[in-house]
Amino acid sequence: MITEIRRAAGDEELAALLELRHRVFCEEQGVPTQEERDGRDGDALHLVAVRDERVVGTCRLLFVDRTVQFSRLAVDPAARREGIATLLLREADREARAAGAQRIVLHAQTYARELYARDGYVPRGRRFVEAGIEHVAMEKRLA
Ligand SMILES: CC(C)(COP(=O)(O)OP(=O)(O)OC[C@H]1O[C@@H](n2cnc3c(N)ncnc32)[C@H](O)[C@@H]1OP(=O)(O)O)[C@@H](O)C(=O)NCCC(=O)NCCS
Repeated sequence: MITEIRRAAGDEELAALLELRHRVFCEEQGVPTQEERDGRDGDALHLVAVRDERVVGTCRLLFVDRTVQFSRLAVDPAARREGIATLLLREADREARAAGAQRIVLHAQTYARELYARDGYVPRGRRFVEAGIEHVAMEKRLA
């Protein structure tokens, strides 16, 4: 099955990726809606994975000076363990490099840290709890 990985296009895709995030983070993981929708979506670059015209994966990039803050990585439960998150990470890497960023930083849920480690991210600092979920900060230098 072909999965397209690219920037989100238009209001319909934005609504679809927000709906996916709500389903994954709020309904599945119990993150409060006001934390999931933190007011920064309007400033972000949103990537999507699209299959059969459906958004099955998404993530968000915020550019702050020469650092990219990567977050809101979510894949539809029916499409997991097929490499979609890995493809989204690769596309984020490409976008970050194209924008001249020097590093990408993120807060990984500790259960999923191997996903990021495989893509070259290294942990930075202690574990902490965010939105009721254990995380660890990770970063990848691009230069
Ligand atoms: C985490 C998540 C984004 C992974 O998406 P995915 O498309 O299934 O990930 P991939 O198929 O690219 O996985 C690549 C590797 O990451 C690791 N990984 C992925 N999901 C994992 C899980 N649930 N538990 C442990 N390791 C996992 C594995 O090493 C995996 O390789 P493998 O399948 O050969 O074992 C997805 O499970 C999800 O949306 N979870 C809920 C939201 C979430 O936790 N987001 C991440 C916030 S940090």
